[in-house]
Amino acid sequence: MSDNQRNTYVTQVDLDQPDPQVFALATKVLQDGGLVAFPTETVYGLGANALDADAVQKIFAAKERPANDPLIVHIHNREQLQHIAIDIPDEATQLMDTFWAGALTVVLPKHPNVPPVVTAGQDTVAVRMPNHPIALELLRESNLPIAAPSANRFSRPSPTSAYHVLQDLNGRVDVILDGGNTTIGIESTIVDMTAPVPIVLRPGGISLEQLREVIPTIAFRPRRVGEDETAPAPGTLLKHYSPDAQMMVFEGNTDAVFERMKQVTNEQHSAGKHVGILVLDDHALRLTNVQAQIVLLGDDLDAMASNLFAGIRELDTAEVDVILVRAPEQAGVGLALHDRLLRAAEGQIIAVIS
Ligand code: TXA
Ligand code: MG
Repeated sequence: MSDNQRNTYVTQVDLDQPDPQVFALATKVLQDGGLVAFPTETVYGLGANALDADAVQKIFAAKERPANDPLIVHIHNREQLQHIAIDIPDEATQLMDTFWAGALTVVLPKHPNVPPVVTAGQDTVAVRMPNHPIALELLRESNLPIAAPSANRFSRPSPTSAYHVLQDLNGRVDVILDGGNTTIGIESTIVDMTAPVPIVLRPGGISLEQLREVIPTIAFRPRRVGEDETAPAPGTLLKHYSPDAQMMVFEGNTDAVFERMKQVTNEQHSAGKHVGILVLDDHALRLTNVQAQIVLLGDDLDAMASNLFAGIRELDTAEVDVILVRAPEQAGVGLALHDRLLRAAEGQIIAVIS
């Protein structure tokens, strides 16, 4: 088999009674320099042995990801961290004590063990301990640090099910561990602990408010439109999470936003376009008799996070031309949702003035 063409083996893993043979097989694949996709509580990851530069290189090839976009190293205990990072500041330890295992990634000074391909040549490394039984079992069984980005093709929405991974990476990954839908549904929060003041590089599953309960001074600088690839977190480029359809993201008060969405739907429909709308359950009644395919996101912002990427993929599969959605307020998990929607819409949010 050539390096970029693989037979992809998908296997379901029972969360309560995981089959040891499955983990033995996945471990063998990792030891042999192959790729294993696995669920975490945020999104599915595309993993390789973080200490094997050739294996990590295959991740970039499979995803068609630019080499200047560094990867997150996943670990299952603090002992492993000693071989990945050095000079760990006390505040980083406080964050790890509070939020690990969980949806928090910390950027730390890199240990010389970690090959440069993982960190895109930077002298810092991003590390996370995921909180998912399958991810943790794979990390324990293999006893390898696993470098893993989200298991999507570059610039596609992150995968929240094994099916999404297969859509993007069939024939490009050796094994997919199918653990059903991920729970949080958006990626981890990344905090740079090597900056003079800890700074959130990407909002995610752990909110800024939660982080500030531990470190009140933690900074967040929203990334601006047009920020370039040499920025600290290159994967935070605006052209990210984008569907094939054009995304139109609206913000403003509820009545005004839904009036505008109905108006835009009518205009698009009259122009022969197939319209998709992503909407929270409570607002769906506002869209009766609208000429659009409607996907429900659930009844609150946590549900929206867990359903957003799947909803975008569903509408893409239905071949809609345009996807309409309202961005939430930028508080709690809404901050990360707003960030992902801004990126999916390539930097443009339509502010509806009432
Ligand atoms: O929830 C998650 O974080 C998922 C799961 C699989 O763990 N992973 C994930 O990985 O979202 P990825 O590669 O899609 O996004 C990782 C982000 C990228 O934007 C990358 O630029 C940033 O982390 N990153 C990695 N190493 C970094 C470093 N040393 N300094 C700054 N940013 C870094
Ligand atoms: Mg990603």
